[in-house]
Amino acid sequence: MRFMHILKNVNTTSKLVTVLKRERYQIGLIPTMGSLHEGHLRLIRHAKRENDIVVVSIFVNPLQFGPKEDFYQYPRDFLNDQKLLRKERVDYLFAPSRRAMFPSSFNQNVSPGPLARYLCGPKRPGHFKGVVIVVKRLLDIIKPDAAYFGEKDYQQARIVENMVRKLGLKVKIRTIGTVREKDGLAMSSRNRYLTGEERKRASRLHQSLLMAKRLILKGEKSPKAIKKSIREYLSDNMDKIDYISISNPLNLRPLKQLGQVNLVAIACHIRCTRLIDNLVVKL
Ligand code: PAF
Repeated sequence: MRFMHILKNVNTTSKLVTVLKRERYQIGLIPTMGSLHEGHLRLIRHAKRENDIVVVSIFVNPLQFGPKEDFYQYPRDFLNDQKLLRKERVDYLFAPSRRAMFPSSFNQNVSPGPLARYLCGPKRPGHFKGVVIVVKRLLDIIKPDAAYFGEKDYQQARIVENMVRKLGLKVKIRTIGTVREKDGLAMSSRNRYLTGEERKRASRLHQSLLMAKRLILKGEKSPKAIKKSIREYLSDNMDKIDYISISNPLNLRPLKQLGQVNLVAIACHIRCTRLIDNLVVKL
């Protein structure tokens, strides 16, 4: 097993990055909040193939949790995460403290842009602002050539891409397909909150997306009718539905008529666990 360096200090990390850049190593970054699962490992494997050096960051970012959300309960398993990362032969684990990430002098002036107006944005005020602040900070420290995000967080990936484009940052944003359990449930650190019975109900989320896809491919043209079918399908199994949306996959605006490419996205709750999933359906 290769040795993995654990970096906690921002200055030390910046100095190391300067040396790696001088040597012209390609750096791939996978930003995470830890509690790693197969979805993260898939991002790491892509990064390994495409870069010389792979850095994984673990930081449970308080800025992206609302006051009533699960920041304190969010699963943390640093020892197991390290074990998984060593097995994947990750080169560096960057695990800063809150103070290292956000020193008092830190300027948080970065905006998530107009894509945050849709889908999860209105349901989680401030969430995407918190995400872009932390991602920008990580990009500034690690200066990766490529950064890897999961398709499950579709909106997050698009918002980060937009931010990178707007700020003219020289990093490639790579979005990698969702990894699913056998019954289709998208892997997520929050799935650990689900009890056995809830876990069974959770699989309906992906099934509802597949149902929507079948309806679209069979010729259903009305987003309203498709959303109604999804709602009926989910209503017995989900405790609360935040939204069911059929949107333009580029600007995330809700569609009144289906386009050539359609993003079907859902957010719902089972007890206190918030689940999101999506599917891009091409005609
Ligand atoms: O997707 C996540 O785990 C987080 O939102 C991220 C990108 C690591 C920022 O905290």
